[in-house]
Amino acid sequence: MTSSASSAPRFSRITGTGSFLPPERVSNQQLAQRLAERGIETSDEWIVERTGIRARHFADAGTATSDLALPAAQAALEAAGRSAADVDLIIVATSTPDMVFPSAACLLQRKLGVAGCAAFDVQAVCSGFVYALTVADSLIKSGAARCALVVGAEVFSRLLDFDDRTTCVLFGDGAGAVVLEASVEPGVLASELHADGRHVEILCTPGTVSGGQVLGDPLLKMDGQAVFKLAVGVLEQVARSVIAKAGRTESDIDWLIPHQANIRIMQGTARKLKLPMDRVIVTVDEHGNTSAASIPLALDAGVRDGRIRRGHTVLLEGVGGGFTWGAVLLDF
Ligand code: UT7
Repeated sequence: MTSSASSAPRFSRITGTGSFLPPERVSNQQLAQRLAERGIETSDEWIVERTGIRARHFADAGTATSDLALPAAQAALEAAGRSAADVDLIIVATSTPDMVFPSAACLLQRKLGVAGCAAFDVQAVCSGFVYALTVADSLIKSGAARCALVVGAEVFSRLLDFDDRTTCVLFGDGAGAVVLEASVEPGVLASELHADGRHVEILCTPGTVSGGQVLGDPLLKMDGQAVFKLAVGVLEQVARSVIAKAGRTESDIDWLIPHQANIRIMQGTARKLKLPMDRVIVTVDEHGNTSAASIPLALDAGVRDGRIRRGHTVLLEGVGGGFTWGAVLLDF
């Protein structure tokens, strides 16, 4: 990445998408059976009715975030007709990096076999991909980068407390990626990012590493109802704001890709925006909540099955721990 001023109008546009799920698929029934062995009671019926989740994928113990990010990134590069050597910026959105440092982005860069370009992680939990895409868009629009690899990748299973049925049934592992390139045509039309640190406690993993030990509780804690209420409100608000900023209307949206946490939140958002559910990309049923990976995983699913096509207007919306939220409106 270099700094160079250019007076020519610059936009950023997604030129390729990719994703990867670890092979182990765990259905609700299988998870319920595992939890029963620990004396924890849950059921497929409860999970489906309250969340829409039917299965999730779990990475094995030897697989790290950068291992999931690599095949997702390679698939996105192939779809864009690019090689890793063309990339001048790598951003990985994750809350479950391989190690405290260096970043998952640097580890991904090494696995891609390239060196020299800027690489860093963005940590905004389930809003991470929307944050990362907005940062990449800004660096491209400023002229500092031309070809960015933007990845959302997580091994959230590592943070789960399998004795807490209110959280451990919700999350899964995976990675999604896009190649975002400088373009004379938009591209990204508008984006908006927000955070409200007053709500840190409602969704957090409060542990840390200190003095060679894990200090505090390193497992995920969530007040589901508080998160649910906040999410429904901010997702409507940020959607309307970003659509207005781009000079568009709700009826211009071909596809809504919300963070995949709970089908009821997605249905609520779609209803408020007067979008039928057949214009919402839903992968929560098969992926569960993969945090920063959920939006690029859903985007890639919609692109690869032919629903999302060139020229379609797509609204991406993230929401999660922090509390953070944001949206990106783009012409695909
Ligand atoms: O990624 C960041 C964004 N995260 C989210 O958006 C998550 C937002 N929150 C949610 O999706 C929902 O609040 C949950 C899915 C987490 C919970 O759904 P809910 O409808 O709010 O359920 P609840 O917490 O009110 O629990 C209802 C009942 C409780 O039992 P009682 O107290 O009514 O007897 C829970 O103990 O369901 C019980 N319960 C379960 N039962 C079976 C909670 N988890 C389970 C479970 N299996 N896994």
